[in-house]
Amino acid sequence: MLVPSDRKNRPHAFLPHQAVIPAAGLGTRFLPATKAMPKEMLPVVDKPAIQYVVEEAVAAGIDDIVMIIGRNKNALANHFDRVTELEHTLERKGDHDKLARVVEPSALADIHFVRQGDPKGLGHAVLRARKHVGNETFAVMLGDDLIDARDPLLSRMIEVSQNRSATVIALMEVEPSQIHLYGCADVETTDEPDVVRVNALVEKPAADEAPSNLAIIGRYVLKPEIFEVLAQTAPGKGGEIQLTDALEELAADESIAGPVLGVIFSGRRYDTGDRLDYLKSNVLLALDRDDLGPELKTWMQELTATFD
Ligand code: UTP
Repeated sequence: MLVPSDRKNRPHAFLPHQAVIPAAGLGTRFLPATKAMPKEMLPVVDKPAIQYVVEEAVAAGIDDIVMIIGRNKNALANHFDRVTELEHTLERKGDHDKLARVVEPSALADIHFVRQGDPKGLGHAVLRARKHVGNETFAVMLGDDLIDARDPLLSRMIEVSQNRSATVIALMEVEPSQIHLYGCADVETTDEPDVVRVNALVEKPAADEAPSNLAIIGRYVLKPEIFEVLAQTAPGKGGEIQLTDALEELAADESIAGPVLGVIFSGRRYDTGDRLDYLKSNVLLALDRDDLGPELKTWMQELTATFD
């Protein structure tokens, strides 16, 4: 694991080392659970969703995180902070396993918090990170979108961005009936099977207007030119400043920041902002755990035997 003090040991000093994690949305699909708590703090098995995302960033070599936070910010900031009283109690009890679990989130990376104020959309949230990120390529990782650690995506996107000096978005095939829930990409193939050139993007199109069934999922590797484009982007769908609209502008004019490419992901992904996907992610990740999986599996077998 790469921690801040290891920065000088990076194999490629030019690799992106910053990730922006927007976590300032209202999370209305999860009300009332999200009335006083950001949806990114909902536990998946025994860790808040956002901790998986930070761990994924660190695994891809990122050590500097900007979290965009809104109301109820304290839960997020506290989770990644030290809690000396609890640590001392666990230390006195000699409970080293639990102590390690408490300390772990605060030791993962350098985490900075930036307020969004009004949640004016994902594009607006990313723009709030401009001062911190500066003139560097950076990752954007949605705090409620989990990519299974066994199916690494971000490191592949970083590699493609480096090799082709490109903006890179993550795409996943979805059922045509689901495409209206996502940004959608009009693409052409390249000489690499998992990489496509993005010609155009449409935010949440109706099924009969969608240019493909390739949906944008919550991982991006962006160049700093995106900030100027976002600053000029007018509110779009839902009255929000859409990241997809800014990316569409980049895709339409390569002279701004080079090409926009898509990496097609076919691994395991869990949208924890959606209630059904959230429930599935808890079950699937718990089934894989040695401490919970076997008993859960037996119980599920018994349970499904009672279904009609
Ligand atoms: P979503 O559209 O999934 O979040 O945004 P939401 O608006 O909170 O969800 P619902 O539909 O009301 O349940 C994708 C990501 O962008 C962040 C969210 O926190 C989420 O991680 N986001 C969205 C912001 O940080 N700011 C915004 O203004 C909007």
